[in-house]
Amino acid sequence: MSEKTHDSPFVGEVRDGLKTTVLGSSILIYRSIDSTNRVARELAINGADEGTLIFAEEQTEGRGRRGRSWFSSPESVLLSVILKPDTSPSRAHMVTLMAGVAVAKTIRQYGIDARIKWPNDIIVRGKKVCGILSEMGAGRGALDYIILGIGINVNDDINLYPMELKETATSLKAELGKDLPRVEFVQSLLWELEYQYNLFNRHDFTTISNEWKELSDTLGSLVKITTQSKVFEGEAIEINRDGALVLKLQDGTLRTIFTGDCTHCRSTGD
Ligand code: BTN
Repeated sequence: MSEKTHDSPFVGEVRDGLKTTVLGSSILIYRSIDSTNRVARELAINGADEGTLIFAEEQTEGRGRRGRSWFSSPESVLLSVILKPDTSPSRAHMVTLMAGVAVAKTIRQYGIDARIKWPNDIIVRGKKVCGILSEMGAGRGALDYIILGIGINVNDDINLYPMELKETATSLKAELGKDLPRVEFVQSLLWELEYQYNLFNRHDFTTISNEWKELSDTLGSLVKITTQSKVFEGEAIEINRDGALVLKLQDGTLRTIFTGDCTHCRSTGD
């Protein structure tokens, strides 16, 4: 594994047409790295600017949520961006929601019916095309930075996926039947991400959560949510103003959940 960044034409091309102000203030790309989130965190701790973007062509220890690993192919888009919002740690999870909105909207520009599965999987026809992992650094009750890591199966050949993944994952190329322009895709994604991030910084959570609701595949479904300590089953009825999922349990009581794993049982048909 080489820890060196390299002079990739991809970075130059992304930079050329980039219409963002903050995201991509500095862009690094690694041929092979353990995890872009790990690198981004190290850079953030050492004072890297907000908007610093880290790409990798390959991750040897890509991280997923809840300690899982993240599989990727050379045609995936793997990136992490350093954000330094002026907000409290209790609001940090809203960044994940806004990133889900940005990714889903970008994919939809290509005519693909991307939807958000709570909390932050992007799915197409029930299969996952993108995972989002945000990790924060905080001290003395204040937020120092958020590392927003995004892995998107863009031009992956799904025939090369491991058996178990073929059941649950797809790529944009497989859904569209042809390659997507990766540079243009990344530029659109960063523009959409910055747009959502500006809303976040203006504390306009209503606009973010309204868009999230419109794109949600989870609301209105019967779901099983596994948190660190408990499993809940019920109907997903709402994302509240704090960005938590509101679940109507079988006994009719409401439960708000900020984080967990979600399995869709079936739609309520309402
Ligand atoms: C998940 O769905 O479990 C989240 C997956 C997040 C994967 C991305 S790939 C780029 C960034 N670097 C990592 O190590 N993880 C995130």
